Amino acid sequence: MTGNLDEALKLRELAKEHNRFFGDSIPLIASENIMSPLALEMLITDLGYRYAEGLPHHRYYQGNFYVDQIEEKVMELGNRLFRSRQTDPRPVSGTNANTSVIYGLLKPGDKIATPDLSGGGHISAAKFGAVGLRGLNIVNYPYDQETMTILPDEASKLIIREKPKVCLVGQSVFLFPAPLKEMRDAFQEIDAKVWYDGAHVLGLIAGKQFQDPLREGAEVITGSTHKTLPGPQHGIILGNADDNTWRSIQRGVFPGTLSNHHLNAMAALGVTMAEELEYGEAYAKQTIKNARTLASGLHEAGIMVLGESRAFTESHTLVADVRANGGGKKIAEYLEQCNIVLNKNLLPWDDNKSSQDPSGIRIGTQEITRIGFKESDVKELASIMAWAIKEMPDPAKVREKVHNLKSGFRKVQYCFGDLDAYKYIELYR
Ligand SMILES: Cc1ncc(COP(=O)(O)O)c(C=O)c1O
Repeated sequence: MTGNLDEALKLRELAKEHNRFFGDSIPLIASENIMSPLALEMLITDLGYRYAEGLPHHRYYQGNFYVDQIEEKVMELGNRLFRSRQTDPRPVSGTNANTSVIYGLLKPGDKIATPDLSGGGHISAAKFGAVGLRGLNIVNYPYDQETMTILPDEASKLIIREKPKVCLVGQSVFLFPAPLKEMRDAFQEIDAKVWYDGAHVLGLIAGKQFQDPLREGAEVITGSTHKTLPGPQHGIILGNADDNTWRSIQRGVFPGTLSNHHLNAMAALGVTMAEELEYGEAYAKQTIKNARTLASGLHEAGIMVLGESRAFTESHTLVADVRANGGGKKIAEYLEQCNIVLNKNLLPWDDNKSSQDPSGIRIGTQEITRIGFKESDVKELASIMAWAIKEMPDPAKVREKVHNLKSGFRKVQYCFGDLDAYKYIELYR
């Protein structure tokens, strides 16, 4: 009995340690963020224990009258924020949103065009991910190696030649807008369904600072809701689709790839979208400014940041080739010891390299922006990082600088109320 209690307390202690580590670190993983206190509150409500299979007013269980109102409100907020006709807030992750669209729109043997993994594509669009699970034929777009962006003319020719039923754009390394407008004629010529995976850039789209896929030819957007959109770990599907297409996608969610959705996370997503309607534009603008500042700071200090010809990035993400500094694995692991958290990343020239030891690192500025970093703070961060990457001093020396820099940023910004970011986390301290 006591042994089991000890096991439980050990887990609590590890979670506390984790909180302390992140509280004292610079978080630069491009796919992460932290939630506002008001959104976080939703996660610990009773909603987290309940079932609500189906759609509002067409459920299979009793007890859902408030859930129906919440779900309708979240759909309404999604449509307002993204100016979409349809919102499905049920997918429990970005991958689940993707599997729902794949299941709804494609049958085994159908063809899909996708970005290549080494061009920044996501595993759910690869043959050993969700696309493979559905037994689809895949063609990859040609792309520009330096900026990791689809080459529109070459891609248009490929689309017309291969006639995929669905064309998917959107990557995990998403530096520049996808050339949707440039490829529009090709999509129309073969009557393809255009699907935009906005997992990474959803918050930048919400803040009107990246591109506007639904006005540029995409019929459906999928996304994670916890990257640049600073909400809960969850997913969403947005559409400007005809009724039949939308019904197929909704069936792809339930019963296709999900039974119950996570009601607490859905409610937290609604709160996040209300906050985005209020603060999203300012937040997205600052996130991109910070990414460009960090990229040019690292570049000026001699780190090989990709995309120089296009000012490095138009999103929250920047990518550096660190082969000259020992490679992506070595640098990411060393920086972790310095309390700077980012990830190693494959680059387009890594064809023969393992994803465990790639040439690059990927950096995102959405989370540091969320806690208040402005350009001058980012410049200071760039000089600490460049010093660390180039000279690899004793990690304790870097940690001290990181601690001093981070200690000025304890609150979540761009959300309702001046509430302490760590209010709930501190309950555990
Ligand atoms: C482009 C893209 N699509 C989908 C996903 C999957 O999102 P999730 O982790 O929410 O399942 C990711 C995750 O990083 C991504 O980068």
